[in-house]
Amino acid sequence: MTTEIEWWDYEGADEMAEAVAGDIGFIIESAIDARGAAVIALAGGKTPLPIYEKLAKAKIDWKRVTIIPGDDRIVPLGDPLSNVTAIGKIFIPKGARVLPLVSDKAPDYKAAGRSADALLQDVHWPLDLCLLGVGGDGHCASIFPGPDFDEALNGPKERRALGVMPDPLPPEAPVARVTLSRAAIVSARALMIAITGEAKKEVLEAAIEQGASSSYPVGRVLADVELPVDIHWAA
Ligand code: 6PG
Repeated sequence: MTTEIEWWDYEGADEMAEAVAGDIGFIIESAIDARGAAVIALAGGKTPLPIYEKLAKAKIDWKRVTIIPGDDRIVPLGDPLSNVTAIGKIFIPKGARVLPLVSDKAPDYKAAGRSADALLQDVHWPLDLCLLGVGGDGHCASIFPGPDFDEALNGPKERRALGVMPDPLPPEAPVARVTLSRAAIVSARALMIAITGEAKKEVLEAAIEQGASSSYPVGRVLADVELPVDIHWAA
């Protein structure tokens, strides 16, 4: 089965942020209309922050919205590398419920993954949206080559999150992670990717082309996905 992918190209990051924020706002409102609440996973990293700033301005009943980071670095809350801290700063003042995947009580990264999974078992499922970013090395969420790669991609369907020790550690954030599993990502009702720059576009195109045997994690995540995937790209 070939994944159905639609590319949306924009002149610049600001135009992309406006459009993607509009799309996410629509998904949230539709979920609230249909089910009384919305649960979304947002990408970490720097690229999506302008999207979130715009989204937070939307007139949404934020009290009905639960947000989780699609992955996080295992660092204390407030650390500059913490995805939930960046997301929380924007959406907690709006009244949204922002759930951290990383708890400071876990003794090691595997245990951190297990407690994130337990937390997500109590969240309304499936996700209404999973927004992913892509790293220059082709990772998405925190699905990286290393000892946990196979579990992240091919673990049991019920497993929503797990701990990951990337090997090699990514230089921009060289720490262990907690991530949504591929099964959790592809079970979402909507799947979107937002990236900027030629280099990431080339990586993502190659990853999609390579599919299930891709050397890039994102290629493996997207291969044979049953729902359509929207990819938003700005130069
Ligand atoms: C993370 C991410 C990750 C991110 C990419 C791109 O925590 O590392 O969620 O998957 O989307 O690394 O990050 P940038 O947008 O900062 O390049």
